[in-house]
Amino acid sequence: MSTVIKNGTIVTADLTYTADIKIEGETIVEIGPNLSGDTVLDASGCYVMPGGIDPHVHLEMPFMGTYSSDDFESGTRAALAGGTTMVVDFCLPSPNQSLLEALSMWDNKSGRAHCDYSYHMAITWWSEQVFDEMETVVKEKGINTFKHFMAYKGALMVQDDEMYASFQRCAELGAMPLVHAENGDVVADLSAKLLAAGNNGPEGHAYSRPPQVEGEATNRAIMIADMAGVPLYVVHTSCEESHEAIRRARQQGKRVYGEPLIQHLTLDESEYFDKDWDHAARRVMSPPFRNKAHQDSLWAGLQSGSLQVVATDHCAFTTEQKRTGVGDFTKIPNGTGGLEDRMPMLWTYGVATGRLTMNEFVAVTSTNIAKILNVYPKKGAILVGADADIVVWDPEKGKTISAKSQQSAIDYNVFEGKHVKGLPRYTLTRGRVAVEDGVIQPKEGHGQFVPREPFQAVNKALSKWKELTAPRKVERSGIPASGV
Ligand code: URP
Ligand code: ZN
Ligand code: ZN
Ligand code: ZN
Repeated sequence: MSTVIKNGTIVTADLTYTADIKIEGETIVEIGPNLSGDTVLDASGCYVMPGGIDPHVHLEMPFMGTYSSDDFESGTRAALAGGTTMVVDFCLPSPNQSLLEALSMWDNKSGRAHCDYSYHMAITWWSEQVFDEMETVVKEKGINTFKHFMAYKGALMVQDDEMYASFQRCAELGAMPLVHAENGDVVADLSAKLLAAGNNGPEGHAYSRPPQVEGEATNRAIMIADMAGVPLYVVHTSCEESHEAIRRARQQGKRVYGEPLIQHLTLDESEYFDKDWDHAARRVMSPPFRNKAHQDSLWAGLQSGSLQVVATDHCAFTTEQKRTGVGDFTKIPNGTGGLEDRMPMLWTYGVATGRLTMNEFVAVTSTNIAKILNVYPKKGAILVGADADIVVWDPEKGKTISAKSQQSAIDYNVFEGKHVKGLPRYTLTRGRVAVEDGVIQPKEGHGQFVPREPFQAVNKALSKWKELTAPRKVERSGIPASGV
């Protein structure tokens, strides 16, 4: 059985051209004019692009005393509805839990996925066992990224010595560290002071996490990665202070990547000053939404290439879950949704406004992260031999975002009321048509784990740290007797 996508304009990170695409089974087998096949999908008036990859989601994740409400079933259904065909979730061992045991728990959850997926492994505690298991995770389990939380003190947060040890281990294994960059000690102190002063509403969350805490942690992580000789990926880059650190590192020849979220690009801090407690609490996430100047910085980063990836950090909690934090903002589960809306929102606010070209859109939603995670060109590409993860994008198709019509299991949408123009006509996941004209045809368990090989990217370009600090033995005479 073959499928041909006809009459569309193919848009990749590099090229825009007219051709048909022939798919056999799960794979693209031919690209060219006048192709024929058993089934024809009409792409007239559409752009045919690599399916989106969202490298930052938390599905059914235990967090802040509860579980995020979208699981691999509803989460990947939402992904496909919005043109995303691969997600990367975070495997989060609890304190003292074996990484491999946590991984088998995640495998039990991910079997329901409608589209392909992979995992980042979180380093939530440190020991010789963790050090040893990291090797198995990379060499046998197909995971080449390790996440470090520099915030969530008393829960997920790692200390600098642990981070440095883990980063060095990543360097040995051909893996890449990721960081949630916020100074958790400062956040904890600011939070306590705000609460003591009676400032316990959701806006306190934003006050407790100013851009400085993110900028400081980003700088620190970059320097530690440099000393460990390893590339670094900074998740949910939300402000100029963090972007500046990433930009500077890249200018110095370091492989440092930054990932803004669609939420930070399109929603600002005024959301926290809504009079309605629920409205503000539903938007509590870390880092918090910022002001327009920070948003401009993120857009500029995507344009210039100093920021490479747009993700969602999809970690959805219901209103009821958010209400655990009434009277104490530190207890509001941190996280927002966005999986279904990332591509339409970025197209509407990025491509349609002229901020991004179509090719840049493909780069930041799919191709760049496929390369960074070492799954290109299996993913992130329209090429012969690539997986047929494809979105046929209709730039004229519009809708108003509403929780009433979303796939996500939660009862609201942070983009409620926004009008988007640009939606999938078809979404194909490894050759299977999962979305056709807004109708989702889900198939639980179709999604497969995508193993990711270790890679040799290092961070040595212009870094002279090792040479400058290489210990020299100094021959000395006249050493004074001790105690004199
Ligand atoms: O608030 C957020 N971002 N929640 C999800 C966990 C994380 O920090 O990424
Ligand atoms: Zn985070
Ligand atoms: Zn409101
Ligand atoms: Zn996250």
